[in-house]
Amino acid sequence: MNKSCNLYIDEVAYDFDVEGDFFWGEDKLLFKSENNIISKMPWKKEGYSVVDIFVEDEFFKLMQSITKNIVKAIKQNGIHFDEATFSLDKYHEVVTTDDLHNKVIDITRNLENSDFDFDIDALTLRFADVLGYKLTSWIEELQKSHIQIRISRPNSLDINPPHRDGYLSYWEDIINVWIPIVGCNEKSSLPVLPGSHLMSEHEVLRTKSKGAKINGNIYYVPCILEIKSGPIKMIRPNPNEGEALIFTPFLIHGAAVNKNENITRVSLELRLPRVLN
Ligand SMILES: [Fe+2]
Repeated sequence: MNKSCNLYIDEVAYDFDVEGDFFWGEDKLLFKSENNIISKMPWKKEGYSVVDIFVEDEFFKLMQSITKNIVKAIKQNGIHFDEATFSLDKYHEVVTTDDLHNKVIDITRNLENSDFDFDIDALTLRFADVLGYKLTSWIEELQKSHIQIRISRPNSLDINPPHRDGYLSYWEDIINVWIPIVGCNEKSSLPVLPGSHLMSEHEVLRTKSKGAKINGNIYYVPCILEIKSGPIKMIRPNPNEGEALIFTPFLIHGAAVNKNENITRVSLELRLPRVLN
């Protein structure tokens, strides 16, 4: 069934069509109120925070490594371009069709630590220090690490719907990390719904996993279409270069429309499970 998803981002209204079967959940809070990954944080009620994460030239090195991965994915699809003048913010001038873009992100959405010449485990340790829990980048259920480069072209529907990663069993006890790389600003940065991790399932109208389609693309995570308390009013915390947005996997986030006129947005997502021993 086609439905319209209506929401606000920083008080501006947006709507887009989502295809799927929607249902209200049970009266159950999935976010564990005790001993969760953010339980030592003063921002546990909001569910998210922005933290300083990079030192010295690390950010630049990570950006180079991301560029390398994107260039490789473009080349693998036989797209001709001038590598010497290529820059991430102009990606949309090189990858000019939805079809080619989908082929590129098929590669860049599913990377591992070994794809990056950057020490992901050193970063993992820093997030562990912030949260006061031991973290790893290894996802036991998937038997691999998981790193996703998100590429959102200007004036596109390169977005996923509002969702909670925690609906998928392997993302239940992780910290979500969203790192701005290029083109991330007040018009494009990832939106979150503050405090939404404390919303019971009966307050949420959603699809099941792999049950939502936007612009022809099926999303793995369930789409959240409505909440009982009224319109979905998201905000963009908009971390600066060198910072990261971190949040509980039960916080509703997504719908990161890129409203920049002529700049592709690139961000990096890490999902780091807690190690309990
Ligand atoms: Fe997500």
